Amino acid sequence: MLQNKKILLGICGSIAAYKSASLVRLLVKAGAEVQVVMTPEATNFITPLTLSTLSKRPVYVEYFTPETGEWNNHVEMGLWGDLFLIAPASANTMAKMANGLCDNLLTAVYLSAKCPVYFAPAMDLDMWKHESTVENVEKIQSFGNVLIKPGTGELASGLHGEGRMAEPEEIVTFLEADIKSKLPLVGQKILVTAGPTYEAIDPVRFIGNHSSGKMGFAIADALSALGADVILVAGPTAQLSKQRSVKRVDVVSAADMLAACEQYYPEVKACIMSAAVADYTPINVADQKIKKQGDNLDIELKATVDILKTLGGQKQDGQILVGFALETNDEEQNAIYKLKSKNLDLIILNSLNDTGAGFKGDTNKIMIIDRDLHKTTYDLKTKDEVARDICDKLIELIKS
Ligand code: CTP
Repeated sequence: MLQNKKILLGICGSIAAYKSASLVRLLVKAGAEVQVVMTPEATNFITPLTLSTLSKRPVYVEYFTPETGEWNNHVEMGLWGDLFLIAPASANTMAKMANGLCDNLLTAVYLSAKCPVYFAPAMDLDMWKHESTVENVEKIQSFGNVLIKPGTGELASGLHGEGRMAEPEEIVTFLEADIKSKLPLVGQKILVTAGPTYEAIDPVRFIGNHSSGKMGFAIADALSALGADVILVAGPTAQLSKQRSVKRVDVVSAADMLAACEQYYPEVKACIMSAAVADYTPINVADQKIKKQGDNLDIELKATVDILKTLGGQKQDGQILVGFALETNDEEQNAIYKLKSKNLDLIILNSLNDTGAGFKGDTNKIMIIDRDLHKTTYDLKTKDEVARDICDKLIELIKS
């Protein structure tokens, strides 16, 4: 959940700031980029050097860094973050957050931030129980900011009670669970196919195609980032998933891909079939390498099973099936024919006549046609952006 997330970590003046080193370490380990912003008081409890070493980024404390002459732009920082975690959040900073005060960089970033804000208070139990703190916490929550509750235990003052900042591990677990619970595809299992298939001629040769698998991998990554449990059935390709949670199933031939799809299809909500499956496969696969023999070589081929059409025939109520159509002529007409004949809910049309669309590149240009033959056209975009557009359409359909 935190992979590739840009996290602003605000650290306030509290003894719990000593735990910030572990917190930064855990966030970085989870794949996040961490930008630390400290209040001047916080630097008395932990050094910016420790935190910049662990986060591998400069740590900002003041509006202005005199040594470099750099203005630490709070507005830019506020826009940079995917989420703002204030931990430890002191009583003083929470009072400022509740009342819109911004007399330091951290609180100015807070007022500028448009991303979700989480705060993990840390203070002595009487400060935590004080009516003003209780009121401030409620007020901050009413802004939509999320409280990560303090724990109960021995406090730095020697007293025992509530007020201890949640442990770094608990904070990371909380963030991951909270982010996941808010994603639009959480709890949805989705099958994606990608890449080419290789149809063996003999032990060393095959019939294949130029599909790179980039589009399917981008779709799998985008779905996973939106919370889905993704099963990616991939033909031979050098692509790697960016999202660790994508479950990859490697296959080689169209027959292998069919078997894998039939295994997983019954348990998924949706299937996006972006693989470039071979339409024909050799009738006989030679056991031994075929020796050179004369000027011509005939290889007899037979049609493969159309996987998408097979799944279309097995579709249960509520399941969504999405196919691709790569066309060179009569594009829309051909795509609509495939949509209907394969019992699809959406078809994604690529025309090889569009510059930048198709197999190998990093861009694609698509049109999506739904069952009502409603057409949505998109500009030429990166495959990651196209993947997001496809996911948005799928989400619309799942929610409808
Ligand atoms: N497809 C499939 N099984 C096959 C062939 C294609 O599941 N044996 C799927 C592809 O993954 C794609 C869709 O069908 O989602 C359309 O593939 P495409 O190659 O464009 O069309 P075909 O149906 O194979 O028709 P043609 O090659 O004649 O255009």
